[in-house]
Amino acid sequence: MQCIRKVTDSIYWVGGSDRRLALFENIFPISRGVSYNAYVVLDDKTALMDTADYSVGRQFMENVAGALNGRTLDYLVVDHMEPDHCAWIKELKTCYPDMKIVGNAKTFQMIDQFFTLDLADEDKVVVKENDTLELGRHTLTFVMAPMVHWPEAMVSYESTEKILFSADAFGSFGALDGRIFDDELHFERDWMDDARRYYTNIVGKYGMQVQALLKKAAGLDIRMICPLHGPIWRSSLNVLLEKYDKWSRYEAEEKGVLIIYGSMYGHTEGVAQALSVKLAEAGVKEMAVYDVSNTHMSQLIAEAFRYSHIVLACPTYNGGIYPPMDALLHDMKALNMSNKVFGVIENGTWAPASGRLMTAVLETLKGCSVLDTKVTVKSDLKQDKEADLDALCQAIAASM
Ligand code: FEO
Repeated sequence: MQCIRKVTDSIYWVGGSDRRLALFENIFPISRGVSYNAYVVLDDKTALMDTADYSVGRQFMENVAGALNGRTLDYLVVDHMEPDHCAWIKELKTCYPDMKIVGNAKTFQMIDQFFTLDLADEDKVVVKENDTLELGRHTLTFVMAPMVHWPEAMVSYESTEKILFSADAFGSFGALDGRIFDDELHFERDWMDDARRYYTNIVGKYGMQVQALLKKAAGLDIRMICPLHGPIWRSSLNVLLEKYDKWSRYEAEEKGVLIIYGSMYGHTEGVAQALSVKLAEAGVKEMAVYDVSNTHMSQLIAEAFRYSHIVLACPTYNGGIYPPMDALLHDMKALNMSNKVFGVIENGTWAPASGRLMTAVLETLKGCSVLDTKVTVKSDLKQDKEADLDALCQAIAASM
């Protein structure tokens, strides 16, 4: 049975939600599921804005047919070629053989890479920056958004109803439960953490490109944003635009301290706990403590984007950095983590080295500094190290 919703009188949401998938991209846990949004525009000509993931295909194909209500599909606009959105191109072409596919030159390269689909020239509409497609009353303008989140990505702006079809931008993890608009749900309460985790882990590396897209978007009169994942924005666009601006400039949301520790037998954990108590006594209100070994990396990355100050504490392992912490540092670097103040705590029973090694990585991160009040513990925290921990606490408080 079709399961569609009206976005406006002539535009329909025709996507689907997956609550079975455990890991998005086979990496990121999605306990609240994920939606794959797609939209049908009905006019003199009909257009489908993107397809969906293979997993929701039965629902998606029924939804498209339901929205078309017996009409044929004239255009498929492919804003993004990642398979969570493009899986149904071939089947659509079979169901609607006269359908033309709209994309840029890179889109068609990727279609050839992902599919064996013998498209004739007349099946393709190749667009570039600011090209338009007239559907009747509606006109789509194509705006290139390279690396948000793949090189072929583009967004489509419909100028009559002032709707931005934003591809991966402004999306969020989380299945849709019938409510598809931001004003039908509690975004700040129920969605913001997943939106942050989605942005920071999926698009986080490409802050500069997101800034470029935001600048282009600022020149458009936008009434509604229709992303490929998560809720549609029609009431509180500024809430997410402001967050995107902050995240893509790598500016912290909270002046506060994130402590991430790795600990084999609880000793380094004890140091992290002791520091958190001192920070609380020093008046730090915004604070969070996580164990690097049992918190998913995507959660740590999202929190690291959020806080201004980060303390990393871990043992020395095989003469190097404790492996789960090493993996986190690698991910931070890969995602261009920037503009943070770091503190470092190292542990080592015979040759502590993790602090020096972590510092060497952190100093390569753009706009980041490492406080020179490194704490070194040999095995367990003893009274004689309290002064060092106090010094780190004071240095953090002073830099806030
Ligand atoms: Fe939701 Fe980059 O795909």
